[in-house]
Amino acid sequence: MDKILVTGGLGFIGSHTVVELQNEGYEVVIIDDLSNSSEKVLDGITAITGKTPIFERLDLKEKDKVESFFAKHNDVKGVIHFAASKAVGESVKEPLLYYENNISTLVYILKELRKLPSAGFIFSSSCTVYGQADELPITENAPVKEAESPYGNTKQIGEEIIKDTCKVSPNLKAIALRYFNPIGAHESVEIGELPIGVPQNLVPFITQTAIGLRQELSVFGDDYPTPDGTCIRDYIHVVDLAKAHVIALGRLLKNKNKDNYETFNLGTGKGSSVLEVIKSFEKVSGKTLNYKIVGRREGDIISAYADTNKANDELGWKTKLSLDDAMRSAWKWEQKVRATK
Ligand SMILES: NC(=O)c1ccc[n+]([C@@H]2O[C@H](COP(=O)([O-])OP(=O)(O)OC[C@H]3O[C@@H](n4cnc5c(N)ncnc54)[C@H](O)[C@@H]3O)[C@@H](O)[C@H]2O)c1
Repeated sequence: MDKILVTGGLGFIGSHTVVELQNEGYEVVIIDDLSNSSEKVLDGITAITGKTPIFERLDLKEKDKVESFFAKHNDVKGVIHFAASKAVGESVKEPLLYYENNISTLVYILKELRKLPSAGFIFSSSCTVYGQADELPITENAPVKEAESPYGNTKQIGEEIIKDTCKVSPNLKAIALRYFNPIGAHESVEIGELPIGVPQNLVPFITQTAIGLRQELSVFGDDYPTPDGTCIRDYIHVVDLAKAHVIALGRLLKNKNKDNYETFNLGTGKGSSVLEVIKSFEKVSGKTLNYKIVGRREGDIISAYADTNKANDELGWKTKLSLDDAMRSAWKWEQKVRATK
């Protein structure tokens, strides 16, 4: 079976994708520098799949090491590139750290892929490229808006770099997957999201508050022009998201792609407000969440959810898991993490 490199494969989305790749029979090699993950994640992957992927601890910013990796693994047929720094707030304070980690690593990998006879490349992009879209749901043709943060900009620039490289590299085929809001954990709770420090995202903040690690959740603004006044996002279960990667990769390896650079939105197509997410959590956990409404947070987009038609029709992929499923797994995961700490 084809050998696939998964960069950032010990991270949140990467680890779930490694599980799905191994379940489909792919041979997986992970590169991760453990800057935002732990080697213990390998045990979780092994517990679920019965197979331990090859793991190379390596910082992709080190160009020589990337070259040596590809010299050793010159039979790699595809790369799923998750490795990146992802904290929006930190990117505003430390833009160069983000441009270096998210852009240089991408360039070094693409340089190596150009040397291979053929390669499929999947890039972790984000719905952040659309900013506050003029029309909802958001299609892949919606204009890319000026980035709100250096992090968002690295996704836009990353997409441009890949597109330009594909134009001059007949051996290279690529897909940029624009994720909406990934949440949840594997149903086995062997793997899940492990935020370091204060969570940046809503769901880990909810579960950490419910378990007593945080005092209360602040809901930023309830006076937005939405039905309940809170912001709306498209929350997608990480296992559904992981499965989409395996399908997108298969599309490239089987030459089913229509263009050698394509983009797809990955979301459920349904928007949920912050208060709806809290309600779902309270329903599946049986707990009452301590939260308060505070003022709006600067830079928050009011509403974003995906038009999923292109992914449904072209990839033949659809989400199967609900918001409740995701909240249930996130809560089970939080309880397991705290019990083992
Ligand atoms: N989680 C989200 O909400 C979300 C939304 C849209 C897009 N994305 C993108 O998806 C990708 C994966 O996100 P995630 O939530 O799994 O993040 P994560 O931080 O859990 O995983 C990223 C992994 O990459 C590793 N890494 C970072 N820099 C590295 C480097 N220089 N060399 C080697 N390894 C490195 C980290 O140690 C980590 O294990 C990222 O590119 C992110 O920007 C995430």
